[in-house]
Amino acid sequence: MAILVTGGAGFIGSHTVVELQNAGYDVVILDNLCNASEKVLGRIEAITGKSAPFYKADIRDRSALEEIFAKEKIDSCIHFAGLKAVGESVQKPLEYYDNNIAGTLILLDVMRKHGCKNIIFSSSATVYGDPAFVPITEECPKGVCTNPYGWTKSMLEQIMSDMQHADPEWNVVLLRYFNPIGAHKSGTMGENPDGIPNNLMPYITQVAVGKRKELGVFGNDYDTPDGTGVRDYIHVVDLAEGHVKALKKIEEKAGLCIYNLGTGRGYSVLEVIHNFEEASGVKIPYSIKPRRAGDIATCYADASKAKAELGWEARYGIKEMCEDSWRWQKNNPDGYV
Ligand code: NAD
Ligand code: UD1
Repeated sequence: MAILVTGGAGFIGSHTVVELQNAGYDVVILDNLCNASEKVLGRIEAITGKSAPFYKADIRDRSALEEIFAKEKIDSCIHFAGLKAVGESVQKPLEYYDNNIAGTLILLDVMRKHGCKNIIFSSSATVYGDPAFVPITEECPKGVCTNPYGWTKSMLEQIMSDMQHADPEWNVVLLRYFNPIGAHKSGTMGENPDGIPNNLMPYITQVAVGKRKELGVFGNDYDTPDGTGVRDYIHVVDLAEGHVKALKKIEEKAGLCIYNLGTGRGYSVLEVIHNFEEASGVKIPYSIKPRRAGDIATCYADASKAKAELGWEARYGIKEMCEDSWRWQKNNPDGYV
């Protein structure tokens, strides 16, 4: 039996395919390559020594999904496929709701039709909005999202929870990621944003490699120790391993489960810059800019539920996250070319 990984050519998906193959799972990859390069498939194979069937397909394409489910023996799905650029989602809400929500509805329907009722879904700490408390436990109420991207995650969580409630044969694991950074140790796989990076770490690495002049720090007047935003950065390989643990949970019958995947430790923007400078030996010029709309002051996880129930906890600290992000960017200044 195989695991279908939608969005398996993307940043988190590709790292998860590696960990799944290393753990002995057969993997089938589906991706429409709207935000990924087919080259990543060769990099995965070079690391694991295993190839995986790859389907260039869209999750909204019902007949393509039907074909894959008819051909492959798929037992569970890890569902990464989705659009994720927060700013773009504000400009193009219909495209985001169509891709993320309509696409997932089709995927779930085809899965059900083929008797495959196990899914792990990529959710986000963004569903907590401005969190009612920190560290954030899974009991923290979901909040008001500040953009359509966030709403797609929040709504899909609700849809899959309702589905599991109506049909308890489903196993649904909702994983709320905090801030994934880092890259595979080999330096051959990592994050490859198109255009100007929205997120902090890819911006820093592009400054370090000389592609951008300086980093803008979005606000230094937050109610945090140094005034800059605090986030729970998590190494992408730790995150990938969390999915392998979630699959084990499904094998034991999960029902509906929700887990935060974070380290439980927050770092400010200035702390990330300093850690990156130490890890890379490269100075990062920066200037303070106004706050970014929709940003919150502080967000970090209480990750003890995942530890207690999945036996998972993050292994890598901020230094390794910076070292690995840097190795990837330095070795691949233009991404997967
Ligand atoms: P990514 O863009 O690198 O990966 C998503 C992949 O899905 C891409 O390869 C893209 O080509 C593919 N895709 C998009 N729409 C598709 C469609 N309709 N059909 C088939 N393939 C499609 O992003 P990522 O950082 O690896 O994120 C993976 C998932 O985790 C996403 O759902 C994202 O929203 C979620 N997530 C990411 C973060 C983060 O900071 N990276 C945080 C929380 C949640
Ligand atoms: C952002 C998204 C969130 C998404 C997450 C992962 C917003 C408002 N939130 O979270 O929905 O789930 O990415 O994809 O976009 N920063 C700078 N300069 C930069 C970039 C970022 O100072 O050039 C700061 C931010 O203000 C923040 C921190 O760095 O304090 C982290 O930012 P980022 O990496 O974009 O992640 P989030 O804002 O936490």
